[in-house]
Amino acid sequence: MRSCWICRAALFAVLAASGASAQDADNGRRISQRSCAGCHQITQSAGKPRHAISFPAIAAKPGMSEAIVSAFLEKPTVAMPGIPLRPSDARDVAAFIMSLKQ
Ligand code: HEC
Repeated sequence: MRSCWICRAALFAVLAASGASAQDADNGRRISQRSCAGCHQITQSAGKPRHAISFPAIAAKPGMSEAIVSAFLEKPTVAMPGIPLRPSDARDVAAFIMSLKQ
């Protein structure tokens, strides 16, 4: 799968340059439901607020971007067990989070 990842990275670079997104926000939403919803409210309508910042609120932060979110998700953090994600999954989740931006 490693070569496939490289293909995706190359494709992403091309599409990012043209303004389109190669990331799969649907895959990001599935991963978020599985791995993140225990702590984060992953959509505006995803039930009661959890103890961590909601994904729509992350997307709304000034200066927030897919690149910042995916870089954060690829690093281990103390607050968030289950992280880091694989780079391709981190980018899909980042695309999903930023798709929530109003
Ligand atoms: C065990 C609870 C927990 C889980 C599971 C969890 N998080 Fe978090 N997350 C937190 C907490 C608490 C913070 C704030 C801590 C901090 O920033 O130091 C945070 C912060 C973040 C931030 C940074 C927000 C900011 O203000 O910059 C992002 C992005 C994020 N989480 C995404 C995710 C994603 C995506 C997943 C699933 C793959 C996930 N989290 C899973 C608890 C969790």
